[in-house]
Amino acid sequence: MYAENFTKLLIVDDLPENLMALNEIIKQKDRIVYQATSGEDALMLLLQHEFALAILDVTMPGMDGFELAELMRGTERTRHIPIVFVSAAGKELNYAFKGYETGAVDFLHKPLDIAAVKSKVNVFVSLYQQRNEVKRQVEALEKSRQELHATQVELQRSLRMRDDFMSMVAHELRTPLNTLFLETQMRKMQLEKSNMEAFNEEKLQRMVARDGRQIQSMIRLIDDMVDVSRIRSGKLSIRPIETELSDLLQRIVSDLSHQAAAAGTDITLDANKISSGTWDEFRVEQIIINLLTNALRYGGGKPVKVMLEANPVYAEVTVRDQGNGITAADQHRIFEPFERAGTKTGAGLGLGLYIARQLAEAHGGSLTVDSTYGEGAAFRLRLPFQ
Ligand SMILES: Nc1ncnc2c1ncn2[C@@H]1O[C@H](COP(=O)(O)OP(=O)(O)OP(=O)(O)O)[C@@H](O)[C@H]1O
Ligand SMILES: [Mg+2]
Repeated sequence: MYAENFTKLLIVDDLPENLMALNEIIKQKDRIVYQATSGEDALMLLLQHEFALAILDVTMPGMDGFELAELMRGTERTRHIPIVFVSAAGKELNYAFKGYETGAVDFLHKPLDIAAVKSKVNVFVSLYQQRNEVKRQVEALEKSRQELHATQVELQRSLRMRDDFMSMVAHELRTPLNTLFLETQMRKMQLEKSNMEAFNEEKLQRMVARDGRQIQSMIRLIDDMVDVSRIRSGKLSIRPIETELSDLLQRIVSDLSHQAAAAGTDITLDANKISSGTWDEFRVEQIIINLLTNALRYGGGKPVKVMLEANPVYAEVTVRDQGNGITAADQHRIFEPFERAGTKTGAGLGLGLYIARQLAEAHGGSLTVDSTYGEGAAFRLRLPFQ
């Protein structure tokens, strides 16, 4: 048991044999009885400990029991401690203590009646313990009130986030849907006018490609939302299979070549070494596509480099661009959902890096960024072999 679990009692008497006798009467295994042979010693102890009760001998050389009690009542720290005076005098002396009648003050008379001493001390000790218990309960109550408040704030925050999320998603879906709708209106008009020239092979091909892109962007958005809700509910799972990274990178870069050409960006791939591991190939592809799409989007059209390196512990894919880069302050933020460094709208929901990092971590790996603002950014994906 720690000292805090004991009830501390103070007894003050100039005669050591009196202290010993009193100690014998009141001691118990859950109590610590401190003894002082003078008012001065008692004051020292009073400043160091919290006492449930002080039993003071009235007649002492130097500072007597009343003077000590006076000092105790005058000090905030000791004001509330109940005092029991021990005196040899008769009951008429009680009148002299009127000044203390408001506090918990009591009297014992010499010679001490053992049963009376015991029961008096027990009363004060149990009062003290009850008061402490109430204090503890009030504190616990206050703590749960604060926790409740924190939960409430968190709840409001997530409600607000959900609202923001829904309006962002609505906006992001609306843009491609509006375009598709306009296209169909136009086609309808052309058909009504029997203007088949508008549907010649070349125009039709461009139309189909355009439609495909709009639809693709909506599918991607919905997939991202499904991923976010999986991550949030802890249901994101990966299906690892034998995956070879240099081939995979080759394929991704070639798949993105149209997009790269449209952005006027040259992607170079430096991945000569075969690097095989047990990873979820689709998820790894998703991470790298996210990084490359960002590099095309935010890389200012400057060349982008993809590198594959490996050591015995992990494979590392780096996607480096020469765009504006990311400020130190934004480098943490961009991995949070819906966080975007710039203020531009319409480019995306700000989910790509959040999902990518969660996917990397689901593989036991990591996704980090290294960037000096103004000098491009390098995103580093590490995938452990084990
Ligand atoms: N290569 C980069 N260079 C500069 N800034 C970047 C780069 N990649 C990401 N960012 C910043 O980080 C933000 C978050 O990126 P993230 O991929 O998570 O979202 P997004 O691209 O805005 O939207 P989404 O990927 O959901 O379509 C971006 O909005 C951009 O401000
Ligand atoms: Mg992105």
